[in-house]
Amino acid sequence: MSDKVRVALIGAGGMANSVHYPSLAEFDDVELVGLCDLVEDKLQATADKFGIERRYTDYRKMVEETGPQAVYVLMPPHQLFDIVVWLLKRKLHVFIEKPPGVSREQTRQMAHWAEEMGCLTMVAFNRRFIPVLRYCRDKVRKEGGYIHQCVATFYKDHRTGGPYYDGAVDILTSDAIHAVDALRFMAGVEPVKVASSVRALGRHFETSFNVLIEFENGCVGVLLSNWMTGGRVHTFEMHGFGISAFCDADTQAFFHKDNELNVEVISATDAAGSEARHKSYGFFGENRHFIDCIKANQEPETCFTDAVKTMDLVEAIYRQAW
Ligand SMILES: NC(=O)c1ccc[n+]([C@@H]2O[C@H](COP(=O)([O-])OP(=O)(O)OC[C@H]3O[C@@H](n4cnc5c(N)ncnc54)[C@H](O)[C@@H]3O)[C@@H](O)[C@H]2O)c1
Repeated sequence: MSDKVRVALIGAGGMANSVHYPSLAEFDDVELVGLCDLVEDKLQATADKFGIERRYTDYRKMVEETGPQAVYVLMPPHQLFDIVVWLLKRKLHVFIEKPPGVSREQTRQMAHWAEEMGCLTMVAFNRRFIPVLRYCRDKVRKEGGYIHQCVATFYKDHRTGGPYYDGAVDILTSDAIHAVDALRFMAGVEPVKVASSVRALGRHFETSFNVLIEFENGCVGVLLSNWMTGGRVHTFEMHGFGISAFCDADTQAFFHKDNELNVEVISATDAAGSEARHKSYGFFGENRHFIDCIKANQEPETCFTDAVKTMDLVEAIYRQAW
C-alpha cells in the first residue's frame, strides 16, 4: 500500500484552484483520490487541471468510494457545518478555509466532534504561515524579550460591495478575522480584556472594527480595520524591548533596532524563497503543515480547538463594543 496521504477534495472554487490544490499538487507524499463539486463544469475543469480521476457531485459517495484519510472542504462558510460534522463523525481529518463556520457556537461544536472522534483538523488562517510575518515574530521575540505591543491593520474599499454571502456572515467573522487571529499569533498568549468600536459605517451592515486588546502577559494588541477606506492595506507591527518590526506581508518587512532605523529590510518573496504568491502569502506553508501533522499524528497549530479561541475574541469584540 502507498504511504502517501490520501486526500479527498470538496469544492472546485476560487481558493481551491488558486492556492490549495496547486500546493497539494506539488507534494509527492499526497494522493488526490477524488474531487466533488455540485457544478459539473467546475468539477471537470478542476479535476482535469490537477489530474484527478474520480469525480463526484455527492461528497458522501466520494468518501465511501475513495476511502480518504483527510478531506478538504473549501466552501462558503454558511454551507460548511453539516458537511464537516458528517466527515468528523466518520473519523476523517478535515481542512477548512476561514471562517470556521458562521458563529463561535458552530466552531465549538465542530471542535467538540473533532476531539470526540480523534480527528486532526485545520482552519486555513494563512497569515500565520506567511514566511516574512513568521520571521518578524521570531526575531522580535528572540531579540526583544517578548512582544509587548502588536498591531494588525486590515483596510478595504468595499463601498460598492454588499454584505458577505448576501448577509449570511458578517465581515469581522468572515474576513477581518485574519487580523484578529494574527494578533493572537503575534502576542503568543490569550486575551484577557477587550475594548472595541464596531460601526456600520456608510452601509446597512458593519464595516469598521477598531479594538484594543490586553493579553494575559500584559501585551497590548491593536486591531485597526475598516472596509470603507481608499483600498486594501493589511499590515502587522510587533514591538519588543529595543526592537520593532513593521511588516506589509504583501511586499516587505523592516526592522528598527537599538534606536537605529531600518537596520534590516527583507522582502516577502526572499523570506519565502519564491516569487509565487501561494508560497509568499502562506498558503503553501499551511497545506504543508496539515499534511505533516497527519503524518506525525499531531494536532495542527490552527486546529478547530484553537480556532474557537479566535472566534471567542471575535465574539468579545462585539460584546465589548459601545
Ligand atoms: N484565506 C483567504 O485569504 C481567503 C480568501 C478568499 C476566500 N477565503 C475563504 O475560502 C472559502 C471558499 O471561498 P471560495 O471563494 O473559494 O468559494 P467559491 O464559491 O469560489 O467555491 C466554493 C465551491 O463549493 C462548491 N459547493 C458548494 N456546496 C457544495 C456541496 N455541498 N458539495 C460540493 N461542492 C459544493 C461550489 O459549487 C463552488 O464551486 C470561504 O470560506 C472564504 O471565506 C479565504
